[in-house]
Amino acid sequence: MKEKMLKKFPEIFGQGGEIRTFFAPGRVNLIGEHTDYNGGHVFPCALTIGTYAAVRKREDRQLRFYSLNFEKNGVYQSSLDDLKPKKEAGWTNYPKGVMWAFEERGFQIPCGMDFMLYGNIPNGSGLSSSASVEVVTGYILRELFGFDVSLTDLALIGQYSENHFNGVNCGIMDQFAIAMGNKDQAIFLDTSDLSYEYAPIHLRDAKIVISCSNKKRGLGDSKYNERRAECEEALQELQTVVPIQSLGQLTGEAFEQYKDAIKSEVRQRRARHAVYENQRTIQAVEALKADQLEEFGRLMNASHVSLRDDYEVTGIELDTLVEEAWKAEGVIGSRMTGAGFGGCTVSIVKNDRVDQFMEQVGRAYREKIGYSADFYAVEIGGGPAEI
Ligand code: GLA
Repeated sequence: MKEKMLKKFPEIFGQGGEIRTFFAPGRVNLIGEHTDYNGGHVFPCALTIGTYAAVRKREDRQLRFYSLNFEKNGVYQSSLDDLKPKKEAGWTNYPKGVMWAFEERGFQIPCGMDFMLYGNIPNGSGLSSSASVEVVTGYILRELFGFDVSLTDLALIGQYSENHFNGVNCGIMDQFAIAMGNKDQAIFLDTSDLSYEYAPIHLRDAKIVISCSNKKRGLGDSKYNERRAECEEALQELQTVVPIQSLGQLTGEAFEQYKDAIKSEVRQRRARHAVYENQRTIQAVEALKADQLEEFGRLMNASHVSLRDDYEVTGIELDTLVEEAWKAEGVIGSRMTGAGFGGCTVSIVKNDRVDQFMEQVGRAYREKIGYSADFYAVEIGGGPAEI
């Protein structure tokens, strides 16, 4: 990837100057879905696939962007004096949003850049290609201009840009998992105060397999914002009977005690998911630490059921992938991962069953849905780096 970028860079942007190359991973969430904006826990890990970037400083304030994934789009030109979201700016709204967010924080970007990206995260897959672009951009700005920001800050800046520049009201999980990624470890993050702990992933004789539905998220972003609003409303209703700051502060028992304060059946189900998913995430990490992989898998399956029935963010494509995975031999657990409404599932599959899993689930999916899914056995990788 790096070699291809270094070859292409002068062809696209011209010769001269120092070209530096960077990487930030994608992420997959093992459990703890739609809990991060409810003050709950999440348990994601960074992947070895991600976004590669090559950059060079300019003498003026121009920004020139090029993606090797969208070569037909050619070079997109902008300027540090025009950091506004624009529909026709496509993916460049992500790096531009991060530049804007740095400036909002008082960091002045001293000069423009030529900026090339090349990613190997499947597009629209729900493995956080946009957060990966955000974090790689933040990391580049830090390294190029010496801005004093921590990796946690990079995550927060990425999230801020996504919320306020790109209009998706996402939580902190994706950017945090990417900025703080660590090889072979997942991150147990408490989103209420950003305290975290790394947990080594020992899957014994099993692997993490991602099944990509190839259903694009489409209206996903607006549905995402809608779920978030439903949870906020449920929280306000609960606050009339119990002094909590977030749904993540409730145990299952406390929820059962107070749930009647939530006046709609739909909002009750949304809140129930947020509360129990948080509890499952805490239990899942305990199970993993105690080497109880089967229990971890059982909690993954329960997470999917709750996302399907209570939170209603799955859809026929993700449900088919998961239900077929549950039928397959050697599957320890399987669930949708990420925002939902399309995207991917994550499964833990015994090594010697992986091929059969891909074949069997792939065939059933094609028959039912009418197009193919893609499968990847993935490795847990580290965070952003200059390469
Ligand atoms: C998306 C968001 C995250 C998180 C997940 C659902 O990936 O970006 O903040 O809310 O959905 O768990």
